[in-house]
Amino acid sequence: MELKNKNAVVTGVSKGIGLALCKQLVAKGATVFGLGRNAPADLESELFHFIECDVQSLASVEAAFKQVYNHAESIQILVNNAGLGYFGNLEDLPAEHWHEMFDTNIHGMFYCCKQVLAQMKTKEEGHIINIASTAALEGMAQVSGYCATKWAVKGLSESLFKEVRDYKVKVTCVYPGSTKTDFFRNSPGIQPHEYMLMPEDVALLMVQALEMPANFHSVNLEIRPLQARGPKK
Ligand SMILES: NC(=O)c1ccc[n+]([C@@H]2O[C@H](COP(=O)([O-])OP(=O)(O)OC[C@H]3O[C@@H](n4cnc5c(N)ncnc54)[C@H](OP(=O)(O)O)[C@@H]3O)[C@@H](O)[C@H]2O)c1
Repeated sequence: MELKNKNAVVTGVSKGIGLALCKQLVAKGATVFGLGRNAPADLESELFHFIECDVQSLASVEAAFKQVYNHAESIQILVNNAGLGYFGNLEDLPAEHWHEMFDTNIHGMFYCCKQVLAQMKTKEEGHIINIASTAALEGMAQVSGYCATKWAVKGLSESLFKEVRDYKVKVTCVYPGSTKTDFFRNSPGIQPHEYMLMPEDVALLMVQALEMPANFHSVNLEIRPLQARGPKK
């Protein structure tokens, strides 16, 4: 898909992978509607429109998309990026953290997909990218709640891909390994470091997937740092 003059919605744009993606989409000439609780501090472009939205709330998502559709007749790209993780032994995980992860990582994704699917299917043009995690591919101790949400993202994405492919709508699920962002703020044991993936590189992969020819489709993209602990001594 040629990105110039396309309309894209990205969720979770204040920082990290979502912000890096917005910058790259704008540089390609796409109009980007960034939905989030907080606006990015360093993205000034006439092609970027921040719309306040808490993806945990269906009413907030519906109100945000109403604003998007006031500016854009149709949306060709949706990237469900907003997400967070809480870690620790399951018996110690507060129920509110469990619910916040599910409300953000999977319920928010469902709410946003609902806002774009009908028009993408009618126009036979659209690409939805859902950000899962390598935590969607294997169980991990002290990561059970977050893994559960991301396994749900995998299930939603693979099913939706099969549901809409005949309408020429693409659904891609991205499985990044550890990425150097603010994501680990709730994980006292892990500090971001230089051998993690860079958010700009994860964003670049998504841009490349979006730019692929119409009948070429990346269904699942698993990406990891080649040497997650640095060069072998
Ligand atoms: N970093 C990693 O190692 C890694 C690996 C695999 C997958 N991922 C996934 O990648 C995605 C992006 O994470 P990141 O690494 O870029 O982390 P990040 O730097 O913490 O950014 C997360 C973004 O999501 C937004 N967000 C959180 N809750 C929201 C809500 N209820 N409504 C709207 N926006 C909300 C945050 O905005 P606020 O300013 O409102 O908090 C922020 O902009 C997440 O889905 C995460 O699970 C990350």
